[in-house]
Amino acid sequence: MLKKSVQVLAVTCLIVTGSSLSVSAAGEDTQGQIDGIMSALPKFAVPMREVGDRFQNMFYAAEGGNWALASYMSKYMDNAMNPAKITKPKEYPDWATFYKEEFAPVNNAIAAQDMATFTKEYTAVIASCNDCHAGMGYGFIKVVKLTSPPDQGIEYKLASKAVDVPK
Ligand code: HEC
Repeated sequence: MLKKSVQVLAVTCLIVTGSSLSVSAAGEDTQGQIDGIMSALPKFAVPMREVGDRFQNMFYAAEGGNWALASYMSKYMDNAMNPAKITKPKEYPDWATFYKEEFAPVNNAIAAQDMATFTKEYTAVIASCNDCHAGMGYGFIKVVKLTSPPDQGIEYKLASKAVDVPK
């Protein structure tokens, strides 16, 4: 009985050792693949281009009374930064806090469809965008408001409600 248990234990050890060996071999390979995928994912610069465009579009959507489009631009401006959750885990929370706190008055004005408040908060938040740039060593990237939307292929003057954006 004891002998049998010892045998079972020995076989179990072999299986465990064997499988852990193959896991670590596969592990190195998997790590290499993960590193490869990570290096291909955007960090801050590429998503920030989208942030910049959506931010500018947002103004013309609001001005045109297309509040759903303004809300949509804000939502996807935030989502554009998602790759940085993985590629820049230390810096991403600064973006998350910015969007949740400093950008909230802009989002509230969109929800309220209040153009006067929107213009005020939108103008004010540009300084916060630039504060983060300066804080991260990119003081030479200074956001300025454009005089027309970067994306011309959308109708901005289209009446809609902020709540019209599908969840
Ligand atoms: C959490 C900090 C942070 C906040 C907040 C932030 N940015 Fe940036 N942004 C950066 C960093 C860092 C870069 C430089 C990218 C890099 O090299 O990694 C950048 C770059 C940019 C660029 C240049 C992208 C390019 O390569 O052409 C634009 C445009 C931009 N941001 C727009 C904005 C706008 C608009 C806002 C506000 C709505 C904003 N950013 C808020 C950190 C931030």
